[in-house]
Amino acid sequence: MRDVVAKLWPEIQWIENPKLRQQVTQTWINALEHSPLQPDDLNRIPFTLLVPNCPITFMEHKRCVVHIARQSAQAMQEFMGRALPIHLDTVIAGAILADVGKLLEYEIGPDGECRQSERGEALRHPFTGVALALECGVPDEVCHIIAAHAAEGDLVKRTTEAFIVHHADFMAFLPFKNPKNVKVK
Ligand SMILES: [Fe+2]
Repeated sequence: MRDVVAKLWPEIQWIENPKLRQQVTQTWINALEHSPLQPDDLNRIPFTLLVPNCPITFMEHKRCVVHIARQSAQAMQEFMGRALPIHLDTVIAGAILADVGKLLEYEIGPDGECRQSERGEALRHPFTGVALALECGVPDEVCHIIAAHAAEGDLVKRTTEAFIVHHADFMAFLPFKNPKNVKVK
């Protein structure tokens, strides 16, 4: 399973702290072991159920968010770092884990399409994501990003790292909500 996660997520290697790298990998293994989805499904299912006929897959979106978040954090460090400290490992780990709970929120229905599971209806992925990550020893500042990355986080005082991941996530999501923006295959 370790190899499966390494193949899904080359970006885990960007995390400099070996302990955090291990905790992030372990959280993804934990999610895959408890998910009704298979690893290959992640390269096929849409990244959101909120966009009809969404043309972008789960992994394409997730990896894009990690790339946006890292590059945004680096730009902010360069120009504003003296006033706004940013912990890059926390941003990268948080971005990689933000949607790990979707593995417990989604399932494949009898028609072969992805849908929200009963569990997912009760507990959206920010909640299940934190549960999976805490089990694997992921530090609180990274769990904070998982907890606060989506709309639920609007009720929380976000850290700088959580703001970055939140906006990276929405930047790669909101354009799809206007059908005029989307090129259909
Ligand atoms: Fe999310």
